[in-house]
Amino acid sequence: MSKAAIILAAGAGTRMKSVLPKVLHKVAGLPLLGHVIGALRAAGVDRITVVTSPSGDSVRDYARAMGCQSAIQHQQLGTGHAAASAKDALADFDGTLVIVNGDMPLVTPATITECLEAQTRTGLALLTFEPADALQYGRVLLTPDGFLNRIVEYKDASESERGVMLCNAGLYAADARKFFHWASLLKNENAQKEYYLTDVPALAKMDGVKCAIAVADEVSVMGVNSRVELADAEARFQDRKRAALLKDGVTMTAPGTVFFAHDTAIENDVEIEPFVVFGAGVRVGSGARIRSHSHLEGASVASGAIIGPFARLRPGAKIGEGAHIGNFVEVKNTVIGAGAKANHLTYLGDATVGAGANIGAGTITCNYDGFTKALTEIGAGAFIGSDTALVAPVKIGDGAITAAGSVITQDVAADALAIARGQQTEKAGWAKTFRDKKQREKK
Ligand code: UD1
Ligand code: MG
Repeated sequence: MSKAAIILAAGAGTRMKSVLPKVLHKVAGLPLLGHVIGALRAAGVDRITVVTSPSGDSVRDYARAMGCQSAIQHQQLGTGHAAASAKDALADFDGTLVIVNGDMPLVTPATITECLEAQTRTGLALLTFEPADALQYGRVLLTPDGFLNRIVEYKDASESERGVMLCNAGLYAADARKFFHWASLLKNENAQKEYYLTDVPALAKMDGVKCAIAVADEVSVMGVNSRVELADAEARFQDRKRAALLKDGVTMTAPGTVFFAHDTAIENDVEIEPFVVFGAGVRVGSGARIRSHSHLEGASVASGAIIGPFARLRPGAKIGEGAHIGNFVEVKNTVIGAGAKANHLTYLGDATVGAGANIGAGTITCNYDGFTKALTEIGAGAFIGSDTALVAPVKIGDGAITAAGSVITQDVAADALAIARGQQTEKAGWAKTFRDKKQREKK
């Protein structure tokens, strides 16, 4: 059966103290909302509607860019009212609906699937969890036969109800048509004068529909309401990613010092030394070694390559098999051929470097004139002498050599030597004469 989802993302997010809407704050480089969308898609939910506030243009733009619809909740009257605001957007939908808070970045496809499976038992299901500290989560009261009796919001709960440790995770699955019917019956007679989504199961019960319970682990359902919780979610994401990579055969001597993005893809037998940071969009092939203090973003590293220590790979860096990128080398939008080496103090931007080429220390591609970027092409087996400035656009042929300290402004033919530096002259005894004169003047 087809599945759709409503993501609730119209709340004010006041506790973030930010001009940026809460769901656009990032964990591992991806907005909270992006994590929820990704998990829903992986759980087979193809149609997603994001409920936003009237001022939430940036959230609507993001939702659209991620292939989702959006709906507007004109006044923030509570989570039940928010979910009901998606009714028109889903008017033509007939199937199973997932309703989920937008502030749950660690939610997994498996967790969503469990709730969907529980829903098939009765027609309505709620995801619950038992946190170590139940804080202000809604409390879940069960019937003797293990179905939901009702949910009590913390602010409405009695002392004994607050003692219940089973909590509402904020993820529901229901038949769409029935859900919108129940949501239309919600009342706001509670401590916060809000239309609570949590009252839907009680309305379903009156229709003879029991609410089944799925149970999640605490980490998967943690909500982000403040910067402290954002930092906590980031730390837990990183721990989860490190554990997954170690399990998949990646070596890390100090995993706690290595930071990944949401989409970092690393094959087995890669070795990552301490203090490495991966920005978004990085792939590393089997057997490569990423040495300490390197920063990689939007880059691919082929098998057997060695990166760092202290290397920076920027978007569009494609490092070939067995190539070496050493200390204080920055590579941007550049393809480095197999076995090529740039080991020291170099900037390679908007360039191609052929297989086996050697880039000497201090080489700079002068790729930018303040207005446009230009290309540098370095052939296979070329040898770029130390401190060469390559003024782009320029081509260095296969096997060519540039002399150290050259400023190369014209193309160099294959196998040629290009020297472009001042001629050296020598004045015998000049230094001594100079020193003697200065010493005399000092007296
Ligand atoms: C909610 C649940 C609580 C549960 C907890 C899990 C209700 C009434 N309470 O509480 O039982 O334990 O989540 O994290 O549902 N939102 C709107 N419009 C609104 C209000 C909220 O779109 O008018 C959105 C928010 O952007 C957020 C989500 O709904 O993504 C949940 O709202 P939030 O205020 O965080 O609810 P909690 O107090 O966490
Ligand atoms: Mg919340």
